[in-house]
Amino acid sequence: MAQQPEIRTQRLILRRPRLRDAPRIASLLNNFEVTKNLARVPYPYTINMAVDWLMRQKKEWSPDSITFAICDPRHGLMGFCGMHKEGSDAEIGYWLGEPYWGKGYMTEATAAVIGWYFATTGANRMVSGVFHFNRASLAIQNKLGFVQTGIGKRICLAQNTDIDHIETELTRDAFEKALETL
Ligand SMILES: CC(C)(COP(=O)(O)OP(=O)(O)OC[C@H]1O[C@@H](n2cnc3c(N)ncnc32)[C@H](O)[C@@H]1OP(=O)(O)O)[C@@H](O)C(=O)NCCC(=O)NCCS
Repeated sequence: MAQQPEIRTQRLILRRPRLRDAPRIASLLNNFEVTKNLARVPYPYTINMAVDWLMRQKKEWSPDSITFAICDPRHGLMGFCGMHKEGSDAEIGYWLGEPYWGKGYMTEATAAVIGWYFATTGANRMVSGVFHFNRASLAIQNKLGFVQTGIGKRICLAQNTDIDHIETELTRDAFEKALETL
């Protein structure tokens, strides 16, 4: 199978994860301010958890089952963005280490991954969502053309409870329109 593609943006390199990323992932993810926003990441978060997670990242990838490390030449690895299957749809998820928030990095990374996903597949929609308190993530999704489709409950491992989760979807058309104003 061909190696996972690398995506380059103006400032970022989005590449496949490597086992040697584990210490860096643990140092950025062992932060409740990050993990409280994520469904499946426990807190505290250790290097062993990062190693386990990296071992589970399959060598085989497909556009709806892929993980990109978000890197820049100055800081190295800053976070992750990936697609996974949610029912019959692809769902996008992402996180960035706290020192790198508020600089437009995730808008840049997610726009590139979504653009790649729509260019690589015949899909006309994808889904995502945010915990109800996550205004920054919702702002990114709104900028990219996502719309809200409902509210469900999702487990948050770091908070050890089910939390209201705003569900969203993005169509190919809405994304193309959103790109014109991004
Ligand atoms: C959410 C997260 C990905 C944002 O990454 P980022 O690189 O800081 O995001 P960007 O700078 O690209 O864009 C953030 C947008 O949210 C806006 N924003 C930030 N805080 C906000 C708030 N409290 N209320 C409303 N909007 C807010 C910013 O103004 C910006 O919009 P703008 O470019 O129109 O000004 C990052 O904070 C993170 O990883 N958090 C922890 C994990 C997480 O929440 N993952 C997503 C789970 S759904």
